[in-house]
Amino acid sequence: MKKLKIVFSTGAGVSAESGVKTFRDADGLWENYPVMQVASAEGFAADPALVHEFYNARRRQLLEVEPNEAHRLIAELAEDPRFDVKVITQNVDDLHERAGSKDVLHLHGELMKIRSVKDEDYIEDLSVDDIETTPERRGRNGHPMRPHIVFFNEAVPNITVAMQLAAEADVFVVIGTSLAVYPAAGLIRCVRRDTKIYYIDPNPANVGMVENLTIIREKATVGMKKLMDILDAKSQ
Ligand code: APR
Repeated sequence: MKKLKIVFSTGAGVSAESGVKTFRDADGLWENYPVMQVASAEGFAADPALVHEFYNARRRQLLEVEPNEAHRLIAELAEDPRFDVKVITQNVDDLHERAGSKDVLHLHGELMKIRSVKDEDYIEDLSVDDIETTPERRGRNGHPMRPHIVFFNEAVPNITVAMQLAAEADVFVVIGTSLAVYPAAGLIRCVRRDTKIYYIDPNPANVGMVENLTIIREKATVGMKKLMDILDAKSQ
């Protein structure tokens, strides 16, 4: 039997119940940090030490948190023989992977990786006992290293693959994103006309005219349980 292709597109909200701050909610990350100083190419050029420390602080927090039930249910769904599940995320945390999801497509980079300042394809993994980086750190290739994060005003290399995944989806599930940042926010418009879209968010953004859209106005953990019931009913 043909597997139902389910593509998830997650944002910071899917990690909120793990205790990871979102960006634009009350007391969000961007309320407490000057975003263009800590998350833009210009900011990195101006003060690399500040940017390294911003991501060191986010890595330290990442070591303190665990995947939540939403991450686990997404990973569990991928084990169900009825479904072919892909995960696209704007998040730079590794909570989808730690919950068991495989082949997670990160659009905005990964906290637990660093890359050469001179060669964007030279990437090194960090580990739980090696999370602090500085401008003085050199890669094994001798290059200065930077967070493997897509800063504002930088290209999103994985967006082409993400758009292809969205175009192939039978079901497209958006979880916990304000749909404020492009090109990620545009994925919802890359799906086929017959694709069913679900948007799980307690305070969903206005998505405008989108066909076949069902909004599940819930937190990720609650919304995922509702989605599982919907998918079960579809797959009877
Ligand atoms: N469950 C689900 N969604 C939640 C929850 C929750 N428990 N708590 C908050 N949300 C929702 C909010 O309602 C909001 O719609 O998560 C969304 C968070 O929005 P943002 O903080 O803007 O995060 P996100 O959309 O992922 O930001 C996109 O912006 O700054 C850049 O690179 C950064 O990847 C990030 C991008």
